[in-house]
This record gives sequence, C-alpha cells and structure tokens, in this order.
Amino acid sequence: MKPLIIANWKMNPSTIKEAKELFNKVKKTGAIICAPFTYLSELKSDNLCAQNCYWEASGPYTGEISLDMLKDLGVAYVIIGHSERRVHFKETDEMINKKLKATLATDLRPILCIGEKKGEDAKEVIKKQLEQDLNGISKKDLDRIIIAYEPVWAIGTGDFCEASKAKESLESIKEKLNNKVLYGGSVNSKISKDYIDVGFDGLLVGGASLKVDEFIKINQNV
Ligand code: PGA
Repeated sequence: MKPLIIANWKMNPSTIKEAKELFNKVKKTGAIICAPFTYLSELKSDNLCAQNCYWEASGPYTGEISLDMLKDLGVAYVIIGHSERRVHFKETDEMINKKLKATLATDLRPILCIGEKKGEDAKEVIKKQLEQDLNGISKKDLDRIIIAYEPVWAIGTGDFCEASKAKESLESIKEKLNNKVLYGGSVNSKISKDYIDVGFDGLLVGGASLKVDEFIKINQNV
C-alpha cells in the first residue's frame, strides 16, 4: 500500500499568496496538507488537515475552532496532541482524550501524535500516552485513528531518530494497536524510505514540507 505522507506546515507560510503557491506546487504528490486554519478554506483538496481543534461544538471559547467549523470547510483530518501543543500550550492527555473523542464523533480522522522527550524512556511514554489519550474510546472508533510516533527531541532539530531505533517504538505501538503508524521528526528525502522499509505506514513531515523540491523527493523516494 502507498505510504501516507502528511505535510505539517505549522505556522507557515506568512501569506495566503505563498500558501497557495506552495500548495499548487506540491498537490500532485497527493500528500495530506496540514495548513494553518486561515488557509484551509482557500486550498481545494480532499486531503486537507487542521493542526488542532476544540472539543466543544460551540460557545464562549474565544480563539478556538470547532470540528463542525472544520467540517464545513471540507477538512478531512485533524492533528491532535502534537508535541508543540503539549509543550507550548500545556495540552494534557486529558484534553487530548476529549479532542479525540469529539473528532471521532464526526467523520474527520484524527492523527494522534505521541513520543518521548530527550532522556525519557520511549516505551514507557508511549504506553502512558496511549493509555491516557485513548481512554474510553471504543474499538470501532479506535481503528479510525492514525498514530504519529514523533520523538520530541527529533522534531525540528535535524537530529532524526534512526529508522532502526524508531522501529522499536513502532513495535511497542503495534503490540497494542493495529492502526496505521507514521514516523515524524526531521524527516528528509535521504532517510524517508528507511522508515517505510522498517514497517512505518507513512511519514509526518514538518520543516521539509515547506521546501518544494525536497518534499517532492520525499514523496518520490518512499
Ligand atoms: P519536523 O517536524 O519534520 O520539522 O521535525 C515534524 C512535526 O513536527 O510533525
């Protein structure tokens, strides 16, 4: 099966013009594009992904975006629990669990990010995050979740986790779940295939997804 490639643009690029240009150059890859909220309505694709959501349907939650709002724009996926949200915005496993449940009540597909910080034991962190984030989710709903294993120390640092090492975490996830599992963390075109070769179902690409040629190569190489 073709690996699933996801581009996480994070808070980039700075203008709608640049976002459209980037999108038009990379859309032929068929990758899922996680664009900032304000660009989602401008990009026409069945493979659009939001980078976050809120679990309530509407109400006094200044600054938040509901799943219905995303659905109304034709968004098909949403990233939940990215480490940048866990670290900078103090998202807890309890909040992530609520976001997952709210997403699974719609037809959007959640991409749940998990992974250890530097010095932490990957296996223990994966176990704890999966237990807490997936708490109370039915087996049927569980199957719709895409898991992204992203060691926090590898994100945006250039210090990727070697595929042979990442495979150990993949195995500890697959011991518990039958879901699609992606690798993320400083992916580039030279190493992209290594993760697919060790059994990952795809990649979550941050920095390199903003570089057109490099992103196209990542897609071609897998
Ligand atoms: P990176 O980001 O590829 O820049 O390390 C990955 C991510 O944050 O999803």
